[in-house]
Amino acid sequence: MSYQFSVERELTDYRNFKAIPASGALGAYIEDINLNDLSDDAFVELKEAFLEFKVLFFRDQPMTEEQHVAFARRWGMPQGPGAVPQVEGYPQIKDQQFDELSSIGSDVNYHSDDTFRDYPSKLSILRALATPPGAGNTIWCDMEKAYDALSQPLKDMIDGLDCVHDLDKTFGKVILEGAGAKGWEDMMKRNPPATHPVAPVHAETGRKCIYPSKLTGKYITQLSDEESQWLLDFLMQHSYRPEFEVRMGWEKDTIAMWDNRCLQHRGINDFSPAFRHMQRVAIIDELRPDRHPETQKPLAFDPTLDYVPVADLYSPENKPEMTYGKRTTDEVTDDKVVVKDNGEDDNTPVDQKFWDKINSTREGVTFTSGAAASVKKIPGMFRGMALKSIFKEAKAQGKTQIDVAVLQAVNEQRQAG
Ligand code: SIN
Repeated sequence: MSYQFSVERELTDYRNFKAIPASGALGAYIEDINLNDLSDDAFVELKEAFLEFKVLFFRDQPMTEEQHVAFARRWGMPQGPGAVPQVEGYPQIKDQQFDELSSIGSDVNYHSDDTFRDYPSKLSILRALATPPGAGNTIWCDMEKAYDALSQPLKDMIDGLDCVHDLDKTFGKVILEGAGAKGWEDMMKRNPPATHPVAPVHAETGRKCIYPSKLTGKYITQLSDEESQWLLDFLMQHSYRPEFEVRMGWEKDTIAMWDNRCLQHRGINDFSPAFRHMQRVAIIDELRPDRHPETQKPLAFDPTLDYVPVADLYSPENKPEMTYGKRTTDEVTDDKVVVKDNGEDDNTPVDQKFWDKINSTREGVTFTSGAAASVKKIPGMFRGMALKSIFKEAKAQGKTQIDVAVLQAVNEQRQAG
């Protein structure tokens, strides 16, 4: 199927809403629409706008978690719980909370969602619950425009190449330092790397894009290490430029939905110590990225489930050794944050500023220097979630001073699953 891309479309071309272009490259603000009450006709048109603008922004769309999932479900099957914390009771929704003690983590690097799986996410729907005024924007980059801007000989070359997408590329060191060798090994067993064409074709528009990203594009299989590094550096440098991008400032109840098959995005980490809270549902791609639409392999999944478990997003020869959650229930094993016990408690050197901050999070609860030093080692994006468990455990033990014994108990519970 080929889709006619028209940047000249008049705003009035849509019957059900207005689409206001957000940059010269891509993106549109969709106005006069209520995503909680969308007719079938409006939904069909929204799909057209999605293919045309690639990322859509909606202001003032208050939603419950239930409504977020219901809207997402119209676009396909949500992905199940993975490396990022999820909302309690909603395993389809990733919860991304950042404050002075946690950080936006690896998402500051350009990426498409979940390309380290054989079947990545087709589209993502991100909802803002709390936003720092003016800060914490997100940028999307049109990787089809980046591909189109290459010369023909270079297009011909990359068309035949494949790239390994590996979380280890930018996340490995953080996990290794925070969770140790075992934590790193577990991450790799759960998230084995996936290989995709450097320039896959979009199943609905027939257009090609540059797919390797700063976050996960590790190496090109057909090239030597030096050639691979050189080509990836060149592709990133060529792609990430303002002419191909749109940047959006969030407000509470703003929703952005984007096409991971042709875009990359990154969050901007400029808001600490303010609080930023986002929730995201990712819809799986039912077709494996490929060079040709005819050979894209469909994903086999159970359509009666509420979500596709992450382990099912791999082909049989590349199955992860460990999985997240259980297949048919909402119960999720939560052992991905390993709180390290550094074995020492008092007089452990610890960053004083961090220690002060952590001591002021809960009134009347303080940390020993050993416990504070251990918490500092937890990767920023998981720290908020770990702290919740730590405070809960301290309360259960009747302690107002958190020491390494509390952390150890949390660890044991997590490892017991
Ligand atoms: C994401 O990468 O999914 C989120 C980006 C952001 O929080 O701005």
